[in-house]
Amino acid sequence: MVSLSALDRERFGVVTARDPSFTAESLAGVLRFCAEHGVQMLIARCAAEDLRAAQAMEAAGGRIMDTLVYYARVLDRPFPDDRPATPVRALRTEDVPAVRRVATESFRGYFGHYHADPRLDRARCDETYASWAERSCVDVTAASKVLVAEHEGRVAGFLTLLAHGPEEQEIVLNGVDPAVQRHGIYRALVLAAMHEARGAGARRLIVSTQLINLGVQKTWTRLGFELARSYYTFHRWADAAPAS
Ligand SMILES: CC(C)(COP(=O)(O)OP(=O)(O)OC[C@H]1O[C@@H](n2cnc3c(N)ncnc32)[C@H](O)[C@@H]1OP(=O)(O)O)[C@@H](O)C(=O)NCCC(=O)NCCS
Repeated sequence: MVSLSALDRERFGVVTARDPSFTAESLAGVLRFCAEHGVQMLIARCAAEDLRAAQAMEAAGGRIMDTLVYYARVLDRPFPDDRPATPVRALRTEDVPAVRRVATESFRGYFGHYHADPRLDRARCDETYASWAERSCVDVTAASKVLVAEHEGRVAGFLTLLAHGPEEQEIVLNGVDPAVQRHGIYRALVLAAMHEARGAGARRLIVSTQLINLGVQKTWTRLGFELARSYYTFHRWADAAPAS
């Protein structure tokens, strides 16, 4: 369902709408909504197998910004039994500035759909992730749980979890300080998230990223996650779209 995004409007100063799952059939209605609400930028996703939808969006002036892959881990299968050297614990109130700092450093110049759009201001794209991480620490609709990893007594990584009902949890946002990457900190965070979700009674843990983010996919597949589904993300700017 298409809807206006107050958050993106605030971030980028343009009237923005989002549609998490359009099809070739629904697209005409989505574009009508955009015209009626003066939407300048539409952010819309379709299932990667639905090429008819993707091609209809191309014809309507949408440009591809990323390919998102979702992985799922069934939690009643055995977990690896090693104990990572990196301690991971629940967020404390005083960690919020450190989480923001790690998000700022780790997502600078990232390759998500915001950064892929040359019309969006780089600094604001970076800020999107920092403010999202900060919000996740204080707003239960953004994250039900935040885990932090410590390296030499400092917060060096974070991971947010969101419960989708009792059965399923999602790893939503996660990053490791570039100064200490490639030390297994991320693996420790994901393993801790698996324990956390299973401990809360969930049966499935899901997570998503850009197809080209190979580091995280290596970690996930080694921990027993399996590729589940994929989406194309488009941005459509009304002032660059063909007249309908
Ligand atoms: C992705 C990220 C979280 C990995 O953190 P990390 O602590 O360095 O990860 P780990 O040390 O546990 O390494 C996990 C695996 O990924 C690999 N890896 C890490 N960065 C990689 C990269 N840029 N390209 C390819 N592989 C990479 C590691 O080498 C390791 O595999 P290996 O055992 O074969 O060496 C970190 O690089 C980061 O914060 N990136 C920017 C934000 C981001 O991508 N967040 C995740 C969005 S879903």
